[in-house]
Amino acid sequence: MPLAGYLADKKKLIEQYLDGYLPKNQEFPAEIHQAMRYSLFASGKRLRPILALAACEAVGGEIKSVLPLACSLELIHTYSLIHDDLPAMDNDDFRRGQPSNHKKFGEAIAILAGDALLTQAFALLSIPTDLSAALQLQIIQEAAAAAGSMGLIGGQVLDIQTSGNINRVFGQMDAPLLEYIHTHKTGVLFRAAVRIGAIAGKAAPEQLSAITGYGDKIGLAFQITDDILDLECTTQELGKPQGSDMAAHKLTYPAVWGIQAAREQSQLLLEKACRDLDIFAGKAVVLKDIAGYLLNRRE
Ligand code: IPE
Ligand code: IPE
Ligand code: MG
Ligand code: MG
Ligand code: MG
Repeated sequence: MPLAGYLADKKKLIEQYLDGYLPKNQEFPAEIHQAMRYSLFASGKRLRPILALAACEAVGGEIKSVLPLACSLELIHTYSLIHDDLPAMDNDDFRRGQPSNHKKFGEAIAILAGDALLTQAFALLSIPTDLSAALQLQIIQEAAAAAGSMGLIGGQVLDIQTSGNINRVFGQMDAPLLEYIHTHKTGVLFRAAVRIGAIAGKAAPEQLSAITGYGDKIGLAFQITDDILDLECTTQELGKPQGSDMAAHKLTYPAVWGIQAAREQSQLLLEKACRDLDIFAGKAVVLKDIAGYLLNRRE
């Protein structure tokens, strides 16, 4: 199946599952459930859960039992976007093609909607599946580590601490810190997504390690491209404000390396990610195709 069809099918499956799982808009207290659904069901690409499903399939697993676990990643990701946009963080008014959560519901409800999505993610991770309790516990730990202070939060902390100083010019001395920010604020959730899929699919150790290498590389490449698109795309294409990084004096790959070198690094990472999958001898076509899609994405 061509990748576009695969992505569309899986996106539908994920959105249907989440719609059935999340409290409905009118559930009391209605405002929080409206705010949660407002950001979750806007136009996200659903890449993290899709990657979990594709990794599960690559190791020969069935996606039925991993679907709820994969969907929990979209809840974590959406919470991180709502908080990322808050005035105290990136202060962005537009997300997924509509006003940011705090613009629509106010800051207090936006903070709480993020909290509630994160909490709901762990409720979803722990619902009974036909995986063994030991495997499911391992998966919950993967997700918790990725979301926590040594993962996504750690990356966000350094992202915030390094931004905003208009007198600072970034140079190659900043490269190690920049890599930490990107691998943590974004990379870890990609890594967790493919690992969770592979673990649920009962991957052999060498398969899990190949998939982990792939996840690390596409995760970093994804954030490098996000930085490039922030400069090159329109707000309409992105569904979020163009030029936000420059306005906030963010430490980004283009700021340190220039746009061309940043693009080359992203491309090299994606090529290496595909090579990590060579042990699958043809069974990881979708994962390879996703790497190709990430190279040329404009959204
Ligand atoms: C945006 O992620 C935030 C980053 C980690 C770069 P996506 O580009 O996956 O956003 P959605 O989910 O499609 O809105
Ligand atoms: C977002 O990084 C990372 C997380 C939300 C964890 P960015 O701040 O670059 O993401 P966008 O560009 O606002 O989507
Ligand atoms: Mg940010
Ligand atoms: Mg941001
Ligand atoms: Mg960005």
